[in-house]
Formats: sequence, structure tokens, C-alpha cells
Amino acid sequence: MTNILQQLPKPLFILAPMDDVTDTVFRRIIGQCAPPDLYFTEFMNVDGFCSPGRQKVSKKIKKTDVESPIIAQIWGKNPENYYMVAQELALQGFDGIDINMGCPIKTITKNGCCSALINNEDKAKEIIDRTRDGINKTGMKITLSVKTRIGIKDLDTSWIEFLLGQNLDMLIIHMRSAKDMSKVPARWELMSQIVALRDQISPGTLLVGNGDVMSIEQGKDLVRQYGIDGIMIGRGIFHDPYLFSGRDVWANKDPKSKISLYKSHIELFESTWAGQYKTTAPLNKFCKIYINGFDGAKELREKLMSCRTTEELLEIIENALQKIQ
Ligand SMILES: Cc1cc2nc3c(=O)[nH]c(=O)nc-3n(C[C@H](O)[C@H](O)[C@H](O)COP(=O)(O)O)c2cc1C
Repeated sequence: MTNILQQLPKPLFILAPMDDVTDTVFRRIIGQCAPPDLYFTEFMNVDGFCSPGRQKVSKKIKKTDVESPIIAQIWGKNPENYYMVAQELALQGFDGIDINMGCPIKTITKNGCCSALINNEDKAKEIIDRTRDGINKTGMKITLSVKTRIGIKDLDTSWIEFLLGQNLDMLIIHMRSAKDMSKVPARWELMSQIVALRDQISPGTLLVGNGDVMSIEQGKDLVRQYGIDGIMIGRGIFHDPYLFSGRDVWANKDPKSKISLYKSHIELFESTWAGQYKTTAPLNKFCKIYINGFDGAKELREKLMSCRTTEELLEIIENALQKIQ
């Protein structure tokens, strides 16, 4: 039986995991506009999931059937928790599990997690092995992948070689080092070396590049240039919810359509998370995506971002829509 990655068209265009952004609500909105080939959840902490704090972290893996196919991304410290969580995720119907070995945030790496694993191959191997054991125990044929960075400071070929030796279905590389954070442009020029290693060590592992790709066209150019299997796109979606269509749809949308899309997001947020957030502040980061690129957008954004409740938000939106009609 083939796994989902073998069935999908190539090159693959994947919506990147972005914590507190690409939740089930935003994924569904993007799906209505122009779906990617593959979704990722936000990263979920396996140690939190296996603790009394389970409910709080499990919202990171909430999904509906329309966000499909979808890979759950996990991170954490304890390999035994990876083992337990992998079983649950496989049984919950995720198409794959991805292990985050790239996040460079200090509060996370100081506990030896995510990009700190680049300096700890023994631990990384234990985590990969126990996650695979968990998947295998269920008998589900779902994929196992890792998302990482090029190294701690610079390209660390021994780290890439190590990962390519783990029989992964897919390796996603954010083309920056952990030290780079997001301060320098993605170092795509290093991709040829990584492709050569992949071809030599593990030709069956799909190789996906990530970093600073703002359009499908740019992604296709990179795929052609380096011979990779796909592109993962994160922040590009902030500028164009229709990005995965590969066409110039969003720039030609009228203000009414843009405002209405934000309205859909707010309504979906309310029905999905009813009562789980104390304020509407989590919605503010989305406001700029939709309320943008038309006369009066800035003023409307300011009004919307000062709201405290969804009722207030929807009232202002209704007024704005009526003025346009
Ligand atoms: C707000 C935000 C949250 C992120 N959260 C995650 C995450 O949960 N897991 C992960 O692997 N990467 C995370 N990232 C990194 C992105 O997935 C991606 O690797 C990075 O933004 C570079 O790609 P881009 O230039 O296409 O945005 C996050 C990035 C941003 C901006």
C-alpha cells in the first residue's frame, strides 16, 4: 500500500506549520480559497499532551475532514511520549507525523528540544525510532518526516547525512541555520549540496525546501533549479490567501470580497473555539491579511483591532459592507 506522499502530485506545495496561525480555522479558510497539496498542523508538545495539560495543547491538532491530507507536527523532550502520541495521531486519522527539529526559540532549545537536537544525534535518533515504533504499533501506513534547519550555525552536512540515514519519508529543510533565526535571507544556494547527499544516501526520501518563497511561480523555479520534490510556504500566505492557486486572484479581489473573507474567518473562529479564548486578540494577526490593499483599509483595521468581542467585530464589518453596497 502506498502512503499519501507517494500518491500526491509533484512538485508538492505545502502550507507550513505556523504556531498560533495555521490552526484548523485558518486552514479551512485557505482551503476555501486555494488549498495546498498538503497541510501541516501547528507544532504540538508531546510532553504536554501526555500530562494533565493535555486539553490545552490538543487544540494544536484539532482538525476537520476538509483539511486533507494533513500531517501532525510534534515536538518535545521525552521519547516515550513521542511513542504514545504517535499511536494516538495515527489512530486519529492523520496522514503523517512530522517531528520538529528546527525551531530555534531559546525557551524551547534550552530544554534540548527542536533545533537543539541538531547537536544531539543520539537523542534525535531515539525520538525518531520511538515515533516510528508508535506508528508501526497501530499498523497504519502513515508517513514519518522531519522538519529541520541547515545546521546550528552553518550548513552541517553531518546532520543532514544523519537524518538521511533514518529512512524518513520526507525531509523538510528551512534553508537557514538555527543561529540565523529569521534575520538573514534563506540560503537556497546550499540546496545543491543537500540534494547531492539525498541522491547518494536516501533517494527515496522526498526533499522539500522552505524559506522566503512568496509564490508558486518562485517555488517552481526553485524546484527546477535544484531538483527537489516540493516547497513549503509559510509567511507568503499572509500576503495572499489564494497563493496556492498559482494565479493572481487576491490582488484583483474587491474590498467587499476581502472584508467578507475576514467575516468568514471570524465566524468560523467563533463557532470552532467558542469560549476558549478570553478575548478576540488572536484574530488581530489575521486582520491585516484580509483588510489590506484598498482605500480605507488602514482605518478599518484600526477600528477592528480595538474591538473586544466578536459581536463588536461583526457589527463593524456589517457597517463597512453596507457602506460599500
Ligand atoms: C508565526 C510563525 C509560527 C511558526 N511556527 C512553526 C511551527 O509551529 N512549526 C514549525 O516547524 N515551524 C514554524 N514556523 C516556521 C515556518 O514553518 C517556516 O519554516 C518559516 O516561516 C520560513 O518559511 P517562510 O519564509 O515560507 O515563512 C513558524 C513561523 C512563523 C512566522
